Amino acid sequence: MEKKLDKQVAIITGASSGIGAECAKQFAYSGATVVINYPRASSKDKTDAIVNEITSNGGVAISYQCDVSKEDEVIKMFADVTAQFGTVDILVNNAGLQKDAKLTEMSLDDWNMVISINLTGQFLCAREAIKEFLRRGDNGKSKSIGKIICMSSVHEKIPWAGHANYAASKGGIMMLMKTMAQEFASKKIRVNSIAPGAIETPINHNAWDTKTHLEDLLKLIPQKRVGMPDDIAKAALWLASDDSDYVNGATLFVDGGMTLYPGFEDNG
Ligand code: BGC
Repeated sequence: MEKKLDKQVAIITGASSGIGAECAKQFAYSGATVVINYPRASSKDKTDAIVNEITSNGGVAISYQCDVSKEDEVIKMFADVTAQFGTVDILVNNAGLQKDAKLTEMSLDDWNMVISINLTGQFLCAREAIKEFLRRGDNGKSKSIGKIICMSSVHEKIPWAGHANYAASKGGIMMLMKTMAQEFASKKIRVNSIAPGAIETPINHNAWDTKTHLEDLLKLIPQKRVGMPDDIAKAALWLASDDSDYVNGATLFVDGGMTLYPGFEDNG
């Protein structure tokens, strides 16, 4: 694999499975030193298995436990990674979860949990990353002094009944991302989002785990296939590399056409 991220240090949050794990592998095989963040001790073994896979294939990776919704833990993660590897060049703000319920049945705890991990977590990690990019300045490894990729969703655009907390968090990510991009573009920092559609990961297994569920889901996807983590990781790699140097403040929809109003496919 071409070393498009050679010697750059990347923190990927929520990377013990799914999209984050696949980003970790592709970034490592593209030359990055990868910090695979996981949220709690129970995810340590599967995260370490990803680290082992990467290192046995010649890549450089470590696992790091941190709850991205906790300010002190995020500050410590960035300090520890900077102490160990010298700096951070790339952040993939990927950690996120769903706690679905009809609005009238949604508890404040479930609202707060989704907003604090999906949205506040992205703010806290981006803030620490940007502070480090600005402290370090140009290190000759990339045209930008730092790059942030925010994992959003088609639900930054498509309203989603029964998922108000999740959709609100993703709508928030859209404006957080654009505002950060505007604020720091002149400092040579690039901030972009990826909006995945239905990707085969643990977060949505009940949307594709049976034939009926899968058939229903495919009605929403013009390309008639569920996406794979690899589809998203390739887009993340492009956004992290200098190949996308003039792309800033953009959301890249990687969704098999889900945002193309598939209900109108057959004349509405
Ligand atoms: C959600 C998935 C869902 C997909 C398309 C994603 O952001 O996490 O559960 O399948 O959007 O609706």
